[in-house]
Amino acid sequence: MKRLFAIAAAVVVIAAGIYLALPRGQGAASADAAIKSSWATAAPEWQARLLQDETQKACSQYRNVPPKAVADAIMAREKATIVYPADGKLMGDWKKGEVLAQSGYGGRFTDYPPRAENGGNCYACHQLDAKELSFGTLGPSLFEYGKNRKFAEAEVKAVYERIYNPQAAIPCGNMPRLGASKFLSVEQIKDLVALLMSPESPVNK
Ligand code: HEC
Repeated sequence: MKRLFAIAAAVVVIAAGIYLALPRGQGAASADAAIKSSWATAAPEWQARLLQDETQKACSQYRNVPPKAVADAIMAREKATIVYPADGKLMGDWKKGEVLAQSGYGGRFTDYPPRAENGGNCYACHQLDAKELSFGTLGPSLFEYGKNRKFAEAEVKAVYERIYNPQAAIPCGNMPRLGASKFLSVEQIKDLVALLMSPESPVNK
């Protein structure tokens, strides 16, 4: 029994020694290299996406848990990117929004050069409609989104901002900055706001 304990202790000491001797940061560097090489044949516009902006750099540095001062700086910087509709109307056509929410077009290598408008791919991360059989769960369910918020005016603006640039509210969150990155247009975001906030939309039925 004593000998077994001694062997176990020796194994732990050797394993700890190997762990401590491993070079730090190796993983990140080889992951970067692997991503770069797999994007080598992608269009230049897509290659540019491999360069992190200031917010992404801060989120990587703090592993998505930035200290308060950094989080505040991210929210202020991202909020400043939000462009509002020129006509002041934040809600478009929910029927167009429904098509956009279900479309993942624009995110695949084979979608370049573009032959159709980009989709929002919302269903990949969110439940929207009670009848939908298949949806992702990385984001919260958006079923009854407007109904739960009593279709309030202030909430309409908040949703517009959440779709345009979610990091203005949740620094280092997991939702893409669809408006700020110009992946979706202001008109498309208005249609998505209508999908979530109009009483006639299937999201609120
Ligand atoms: C890659 C996954 C992903 C995609 C795609 C995505 N979202 Fe999100 N969404 C999230 C996550 C995760 C959250 C939780 C907050 C955060 O991390 O920003 C969220 C939060 C939200 C919220 C706020 C919910 C609340 O708690 O009030 C809204 C509204 C929203 N998303 C709408 C959309 C719409 C509309 C689309 C499509 C245009 C979309 N999302 C696409 C992941 C995603």
